Amino acid sequence: MELFFLCGFTFFILFVTFSLLALFSSTRETNGCCSNTRLPVGRTGLQFIGESLEFLSTGRNGHPQKFIYYRMAKYRSLVFKTSILGKPMAVFCGAAGNKFLFSNENKLVTAWWPDSVNKIFPSSMQTSSTEESKKMRKLLPNFLKPEALHRYVGMMDSIAQRHFETYWEGQSQVSMLPLAKNYTFWMANKVFLSMEEPEHVARLARPFNVLASGVISIPIDLPGTPFNRAIKALNMVRQELGAIIRRRKIDLAEQKASPTQDILSHMLLTCDENGKYMNEMDIADKILGLLIGGHDTATAAITFVVKYLAELPEIYHKVLKEQMEIAESKAPGELLNWEDIQKMKYSWNVACEVTRLAPPLQGAFREALDEFIYDGFAIPKGWKLYWSTHSTHRSPECFPEPKKFDPSRFEGNGPAPYTYVPFGGGPRMCPGKEYARLEIQVFMHHIIKRYKWEKLLPHENIIVDPIPIPGKGLQTRLFPQTTATA
Ligand code: HEM
Repeated sequence: MELFFLCGFTFFILFVTFSLLALFSSTRETNGCCSNTRLPVGRTGLQFIGESLEFLSTGRNGHPQKFIYYRMAKYRSLVFKTSILGKPMAVFCGAAGNKFLFSNENKLVTAWWPDSVNKIFPSSMQTSSTEESKKMRKLLPNFLKPEALHRYVGMMDSIAQRHFETYWEGQSQVSMLPLAKNYTFWMANKVFLSMEEPEHVARLARPFNVLASGVISIPIDLPGTPFNRAIKALNMVRQELGAIIRRRKIDLAEQKASPTQDILSHMLLTCDENGKYMNEMDIADKILGLLIGGHDTATAAITFVVKYLAELPEIYHKVLKEQMEIAESKAPGELLNWEDIQKMKYSWNVACEVTRLAPPLQGAFREALDEFIYDGFAIPKGWKLYWSTHSTHRSPECFPEPKKFDPSRFEGNGPAPYTYVPFGGGPRMCPGKEYARLEIQVFMHHIIKRYKWEKLLPHENIIVDPIPIPGKGLQTRLFPQTTATA
């Protein structure tokens, strides 16, 4: 209760402060732009608060796309101005906007993260999260490219089997969201760190979940705030990861661990172009970046696959057919392999359609490195930029009948370039895309060969804050699969 009042009081003080600042400040543009060209059209609202409340509330009501489409229709369909997270911001829309931002990475634009991210990650405070993620990007493809992931398919299959045996067997009803979280975290612990015992995974999961929920939060470091709890949790997680890394160094030196057993071994044995190896804390932060980047996103994708399959029996049966053909082709106890994954084409098209309609990330931010002109408008240096998955995913020009669930959109050459962007695009495209694809496909294989299911709450609301989740965790009734070969 004290905590409730403390938070309430803090937000009240902030609201009053922001409102007074807005009253006393002039209505000048906060841009510092020196060109004569106009800024994009749009509304920046009250200073500091800007349009953050509208942005947050459309998400919390389950329709984040409304924020984008309302403004595209009212102001301009290619780019409009707003102010969210206390910053003036240009929102780039449509395939043209995506193409522009994705192809100008490190030329006209660079990555930008909200303050809470920079403040929580200590290494990003030393350099800036942008520098950190540049270093990370150079190394990550080595660990997460499809060739490197081949060897982990069997491992992923056996973790999925253990997950289903431990948490699903004997249940007639489950809450899907926490189960998906458990699955993605267990999987990541195994593939990144070779950690697989449920009690070890659970020990790391507790502080990790606190950290994950504070990364995108209001950066107020007062006792009890999500941000404050995240900073404390970060220290625990880094200590735990530090201990794992030191142990692994010894095991590698004594040849008790293999150089290819997981992503941690790879990181420890990979040097940069100057022959320099990463230090312990660098590696801990990179593993943490992967854990954070891949946790809630893949969890949301899996949860929404389950939701859509419950709602669409015809699609469910086609996925079932494809997965049972694969299951029936395996000898008893034989694990899935890379070729099996290649056969899951329809299932992957379904997952793609799910991430078109319910993208785990709504978009991402950039910062203008210099002033430039776009669509005839000046974008001042330092302005924050945003691209949104919805501006194309829900557009009838990019996807005819956009509300219709239609996995055939992904057959053949698939959607036009820069229209389907759940993983972003260009040099900054999500480095975990292939890994995410594997864990989603392996999950689909296991759930469908074991169960039919239905939603217990037919009209469960969806909250997008900023990742989409079913408000009650997607309560699901399970029926054992009669044709199961599980
Ligand atoms: C369905 C699951 C996922 C979706 C939809 C997704 C989507 C995205 C998007 C949209 C971005 C931002 C791209 C941009 O800035 O333009 C991103 C970045 C990132 N993702 Fe993912 N992601 C997923 C899973 C994963 C997984 C499993 C991992 C780790 C194995 C991962 C690691 C990262 C990292 C480290 C970044 C930051 C890269 C950087 O700063 O350059 N993601 N992801």
